[in-house]
Amino acid sequence: MKKCFCFLLIVMAMTLAGAQNAPYNQAYNWPWKWEGNAIVTSIPDRPSGQRHALGLRAPKMETVRVAFVGLGMRGPDAVERFTHIPGTEIVALCDYEKERAENCQKILARVGRNAAAIYYGEQGYEDLCKRDDVDLVYIATDWHHHFLVAKCALENGKHVAIEVPSAMTLTECWTLVDLVEKTRLHCMILENCCYDQFELNTLNMAQQGLFGEVVRVQGAYIHTLDEYWMAYWKNGQSDKLGWRLRYNKEFRGDLYPTHGLGPVAQLLNIHRGDRMETLVAMDTRSFRGKDLVKQYSGEDCVDFQNGDHTTTLIRTALGKVIEIQHNVMTPQPYNRLYQLTGTKGFANKYPISGYAIDTKAVGEKLKVHYDDLSGHSFMSEEQRAALETEYESPILKEYYEKAKQVGGHGGMDYIMDARLVYCLRNGLPLDMDVYDLAEWCCLAELGYLSLSNGFAPVAVPDFTRGHWQDVKGYTHAY
Ligand SMILES: NC(=O)c1ccc[n+]([C@@H]2O[C@H](COP(=O)([O-])OP(=O)(O)OC[C@H]3O[C@@H](n4cnc5c(N)ncnc54)[C@H](O)[C@@H]3O)[C@@H](O)[C@H]2O)c1
Repeated sequence: MKKCFCFLLIVMAMTLAGAQNAPYNQAYNWPWKWEGNAIVTSIPDRPSGQRHALGLRAPKMETVRVAFVGLGMRGPDAVERFTHIPGTEIVALCDYEKERAENCQKILARVGRNAAAIYYGEQGYEDLCKRDDVDLVYIATDWHHHFLVAKCALENGKHVAIEVPSAMTLTECWTLVDLVEKTRLHCMILENCCYDQFELNTLNMAQQGLFGEVVRVQGAYIHTLDEYWMAYWKNGQSDKLGWRLRYNKEFRGDLYPTHGLGPVAQLLNIHRGDRMETLVAMDTRSFRGKDLVKQYSGEDCVDFQNGDHTTTLIRTALGKVIEIQHNVMTPQPYNRLYQLTGTKGFANKYPISGYAIDTKAVGEKLKVHYDDLSGHSFMSEEQRAALETEYESPILKEYYEKAKQVGGHGGMDYIMDARLVYCLRNGLPLDMDVYDLAEWCCLAELGYLSLSNGFAPVAVPDFTRGHWQDVKGYTHAY
């Protein structure tokens, strides 16, 4: 390690604390130290001979042969979506529960696709990864298995796409970065919210300068999971909580940051000209969690780790601010915020969606002319419709009609999968690379470090290790 911080005592203490609490051998135990009043985590040296993977391209493939691992609530919808994507072959289906894997054969049979090979059990994915007729392993397991399956697949020469959050700890983030740089295989975070209609159109408007300089953005995952807690997979009869509630019980910090952070990171060209530099997190105490544990397990709980509402503030190298929120506990309308403040305009998706643009400041860039727009209030629905037509994202133009038919969160899931297949078939860089994955997922452990150290500032590591300015601006490859 370049900066081999020998703060062994801190690391050992954290490892022990983590190990006691960790349900699934995952722990916040990455080395760190104080530098002045800030926490700085260790940045491992790039092994000699290893290159960065920005703009990574893999050889074109005529057909993408895909294997699915994790077929609970989310996975089967992905199988279904892939049956609508040309140039794909579904080779294998895998779940811990044999029946869940076998059930997905019906999806294939319905559309006349060949039956897939079935794998099951705790380690079924290992044999699946050894097959020589699989190009892509698509992972939608519980959070513990994301990394284990991805690592196995990459080590066996497969591209991977991982549901969110794709990595739970800094150890997992850095290991995936190194594996991709070493193997030259893709590892994509399946952040579907980057493909929602409002987000794609707004990204296009921002890239064309409609909002001036984007100075501040917000994103969130605010979604009470009361209806879902007991629907998540349980590892045997003694598991009363299911994996998702258990993760919230055991881990503090924003565990699900990527729906909020992904789309706004693209607005700010993160690791494509700017980078997240410093983070500070603040959470409420846990009020509801212990009651949920009591309700579902019958056991008293005194140490529920995850606060009801966690807020993370991040400052970038270019002096922009990102605010990310997480709340899966309290009843309130579903909300991903998605707010953009620019020097010439403003966009907001939740809870009220609309655009406000200062016409005079934007000038000729605003092809839809409305002289009375000042930026003081949202434009009318009619004005907004004209704006969205004028600035419709090229991605939506190409995929939205079919996406609406196929469905999946209003079509965004289909667009994400279709783009992944398109880029693989054409040997193009994917829309989201392993550095996006690491940057968006690292908020959990970094946030924990801030929260558990008096809400201290924490340096966000540069996962590109010095190359965050090489690429100029975020683009979708064609
Ligand atoms: N992007 C989105 O909008 C979105 C929406 C829902 C869920 N998700 C993500 O999708 C993932 C799955 O969520 P879910 O709601 O389907 O959860 P789930 O609990 O319903 O399904 C998880 C599945 O993983 C399987 N599994 C466990 N261990 C396994 C192993 N060793 N090998 C193979 N399979 C194994 C379980 O049997 C279960 O079927 C999670 O990461 C979640 O965060 C994303």
